[in-house]
Amino acid sequence: MISQKSVEEVLETARVEEVVSDYLTLKRRGVNLIGLCPFHNEKTPSFTVSPTKNIYKCFGCGKAGGSVQFLMEHDNLSFVEAIRTLAKKYNIQLEETFSATKSKEEIEKLESLYIINEFAQKYYRDQLDTDFGKSVALGYFTQRGFRKETLKAFGLGYAPNQKDGLLRLAQQKGYKIEKLREAGLLNQYDTDFFRNRVIFSLYSISGRVIGFAGRILSADAKAPKYINTPETEIYHKRKFLYGLHLTKEHIRRAKNCLIVEGYTDVMTLYQNDIRNVVAASGTSLTEEQVRLIKRYSENVTMIFDGDPAGLKAALRAVDIVLAQGLNVRVVLLPEGEDPDGYLKSIGAEAFADYIESKSEDFILFKTKLLLADAEDNPLLKAQVAKDIVASIALIPALLKRSIYVKECARLMGLDEIVLMQELKTAIATNLKKKKHLHSAGLQADSDLKTRRSAPTQKKETTTDYFQEKALLEVLLKFTDKIYLEEDDITVFQYVLEMIEDVKHTFNDPLFKKIIDHCYTLLDNNKVPNSAYFLNHEDKDIRQFAIEASISPYAYSENWSEKFQIHMHSQKAPDENYHKETLRTVLRFKLRKFDHLIKQNQATIAQTESDAKDSDRLLTLLKLHKVLLEQRKIISDRLGQIVLS
Ligand code: CTP
Ligand code: MN
Repeated sequence: MISQKSVEEVLETARVEEVVSDYLTLKRRGVNLIGLCPFHNEKTPSFTVSPTKNIYKCFGCGKAGGSVQFLMEHDNLSFVEAIRTLAKKYNIQLEETFSATKSKEEIEKLESLYIINEFAQKYYRDQLDTDFGKSVALGYFTQRGFRKETLKAFGLGYAPNQKDGLLRLAQQKGYKIEKLREAGLLNQYDTDFFRNRVIFSLYSISGRVIGFAGRILSADAKAPKYINTPETEIYHKRKFLYGLHLTKEHIRRAKNCLIVEGYTDVMTLYQNDIRNVVAASGTSLTEEQVRLIKRYSENVTMIFDGDPAGLKAALRAVDIVLAQGLNVRVVLLPEGEDPDGYLKSIGAEAFADYIESKSEDFILFKTKLLLADAEDNPLLKAQVAKDIVASIALIPALLKRSIYVKECARLMGLDEIVLMQELKTAIATNLKKKKHLHSAGLQADSDLKTRRSAPTQKKETTTDYFQEKALLEVLLKFTDKIYLEEDDITVFQYVLEMIEDVKHTFNDPLFKKIIDHCYTLLDNNKVPNSAYFLNHEDKDIRQFAIEASISPYAYSENWSEKFQIHMHSQKAPDENYHKETLRTVLRFKLRKFDHLIKQNQATIAQTESDAKDSDRLLTLLKLHKVLLEQRKIISDRLGQIVLS
């Protein structure tokens, strides 16, 4: 595979007029060059090349693109072939990277690791049937209240107190010692890694054994309570969640994921039919783990042991979850309890009730907790405000953020405006960090490659089509222009940040695809330039970007009246990009908020007739208020810039 850096180098170097001139004669006309279109039969030239935009367009047949596109169409090349051709022409040394897909040998190697783990699992499980295993290990599990089927479901077992029980059996069966090493089943002396411990199997999401954890049986303080398989080619601690292979469907159905700390907590909850649960295995959650959870649910409830010392540290860990856009609730167990013990002491039903009734929204929980410490000290209180706002700033959705600011301001007895101001600063800092982290390289988006859809031939006009289109045009056209000088924020970042709260409301399928792609880039700290879209591998995206950059009159007069869009791009659009961006974003948002308000009103009307749902109604009414306020802010802003 060609590295993205090289692809970019080619795209930046290749001049469309030079590439095209290899195939046809171009004549200058104004700032452009024209020639006879190679893609259709014509007598008078309508094939136009714009050297400044580095693109071509035929006004006869509509074909348009950049250097790569030209070669692809003209010589029937693939994207990669076109890049190679251009690299040759311009003498660019291409940097090759290794393909993400695994070779046959690599696959076989991984497969052999799964097989040896499966073998080890059977060995550990069989030890539960030996006399010693029965009395010691099975006895231990039984005494802790685990039933046979639970032991089976979680793949529990026992590693006897022998130096090389597993090793010898494996060798007898013809397994290579090298494989046992690679799977982390041996220690540095090439003897059994797990000894005299009860064994917990660690599974991949698809349910294959990838490693083990061994818990000590005696209360021996010298050895660690748990030892775990070290990192191997199939076990990556950062990407692993205990129980997920059994609980993922339950998490999806429950639309919520309970997060506990320990292996036994997961088992106990599961055995008691509380199955939407996983454990992060003693460490604070990693970004990878949060992303895994997000596949199944947008909501998580974190269950913390009621130990005030560990709590503050745990709170910090929650920020990772917030930043991924998940809704986080937290529950504190009574002091000294963990989920396993507490459930057993009060029973499954009471436990479920406890979780349900005592769980609290994380931001509000954190506010109260920190506030309790600050008491009436104004300095401490200011620090608390900063702290809370830092968490709120991590939440991607603007609407959610403003609800929190309101609520927290109330709790702290502070003016909402003050918190809002803090929030703005925090968000700007975050964006700056993102921008700095952002490395030069743009990764080819493999997702898009695989789910390339058929080009949209007919232009469907879905609801809000013109507002959506105008927004994307601005986004793709001005991409890497600096929007906010002092913070070094590009139009791309600014627009996406501004519309985050309504990003799910795009109706047009193509626009949806483009906007999703943009957020993927943003999430990966990539700030593309407009050439990126003009030369995009995805034909639909490329086509859209080209149209957006070429057409000086995207909107006709009567559209502007009909759809309340006023285009100012006819004259010197580039100098006006700042104003045009803001205006387009605000118009887009105004439109979307109008819809949201209408929708919410309809839901309110429905809910009003249902007397039982007074809680929901209250929330909806609150939302209505927030929506109206947001709308007012938008329309005020719009009014200001129209006047200015
Ligand atoms: N853990 C670990 N290594 C340790 C201690 C803990 O990996 N030395 C991880 C394990 O995943 C464990 C989790 O941290 O499940 C929580 O630790 P703890 O609460 O001490 O263990 P429990 O799971 O509650 O185990 P038990 O109930 O058997 O004491
Ligand atoms: Mn425990």
